[in-house]
Amino acid sequence: MDSADQFRFTHIPHPAPVSVAQRTELLANPGFGRVFTDHMAVVRYKEGQGWHNPTIEARAPIALDPAAAVLHYAQEIFEGMKAYRAADGGVVMFRPDANARRFRQSAERMAMADVPEALFLEAVRELVKVDRDWIPSGESASLYLRPFMIANEAFLGVKPSSEYLFIVIASPVGAYFSGGAVSVWVSEDYTRAAPGGTGAAKCGGNYAASLQAQREAKDKKCDQVLFLDAAEHRWIEEMGGMNIFFVMDDGTLATPPLGGTILPGITRDALLTLARDKGLTVREERYSIDQCYEDAASGRLKEAFACGTAAVVTSIGRFRGHRGEIVIGAGNGADPVTEGLRDALIGIQRGQRPDPYGWVQRVD
Ligand code: PLP
Ligand code: COI
Repeated sequence: MDSADQFRFTHIPHPAPVSVAQRTELLANPGFGRVFTDHMAVVRYKEGQGWHNPTIEARAPIALDPAAAVLHYAQEIFEGMKAYRAADGGVVMFRPDANARRFRQSAERMAMADVPEALFLEAVRELVKVDRDWIPSGESASLYLRPFMIANEAFLGVKPSSEYLFIVIASPVGAYFSGGAVSVWVSEDYTRAAPGGTGAAKCGGNYAASLQAQREAKDKKCDQVLFLDAAEHRWIEEMGGMNIFFVMDDGTLATPPLGGTILPGITRDALLTLARDKGLTVREERYSIDQCYEDAASGRLKEAFACGTAAVVTSIGRFRGHRGEIVIGAGNGADPVTEGLRDALIGIQRGQRPDPYGWVQRVD
């Protein structure tokens, strides 16, 4: 059913791609997630037939039956990953195999069809190759890739769909945050994920459920929302779209442990490895919001940062919430441990530093 031949993509070039002049203009200042490349990868699945018709085609709206399961029961998952232009002009990706693995895990949790890693990787690679001219160059620029899968069986009974669409779109992006340290709203009224729920899966429903809290954060003039655990409303979990780290005055790096309610971030995992190899003491340990406020006040908590594919590594300058506001360190992003980790990560991601871990894969 899933032979290598079925993963050979048919290319149907865009009949009227964006002109070079227009593309150059778009790439000069793409922002995040608003500019898209000419093509997309599309693969269809049907029970009994498996994955079929892998295609690279013109990016265009997709036709869905109004009864398609995704529109009613939110059976949807996605990934976020980046392709970079390397110093020698080649194209590299950071740990695409880890995204492929997590996609399978998300699919399993959402009772969706299994996407073989080879199919996922081929779809991403083929799209990046076709749209390689859309990869922006520059410090914080990259081509953000958004693989996703939706349930498209037209049926209103509640059950796993028998048909799926796996699609990859690509978006040239700059930095997710506009610069400096971010401010974070501690959500006490809403939680993101409960034990036994879908917190560890990258499914759209998790993000839909986070939007009210993110809106509250914005109302409070904060950039991001921080969620606490659903059982005790006490333990720091993660932000709306990124994991969180803390740097203590003894140089220890701490982050909440995985355990089913937070997304197992690939950036998080890479930073844990980089930090250990730099000789830092690393703790994956529960950290309460009360302790965090206390440590910020006493000076024991020196730095905090957000990390993820979109955010990369972004200093947190302050937390705001029902218990008031605390400033972390200088509050302006001048955080030496955070900066050291960010530089080490970016250097590897962009092929500017040696990669002893085999994380970087050449695409073209
Ligand atoms: N947590 C959430 C909720 C996210 O959306 C993301 C971003 O993908 C992350 C964490 C970080 O994951 P990664 O480093 O794999 O991008
Ligand atoms: C990513 O970092 O890839 C995400 O999915 C998070 C979102 C804030 C864009």
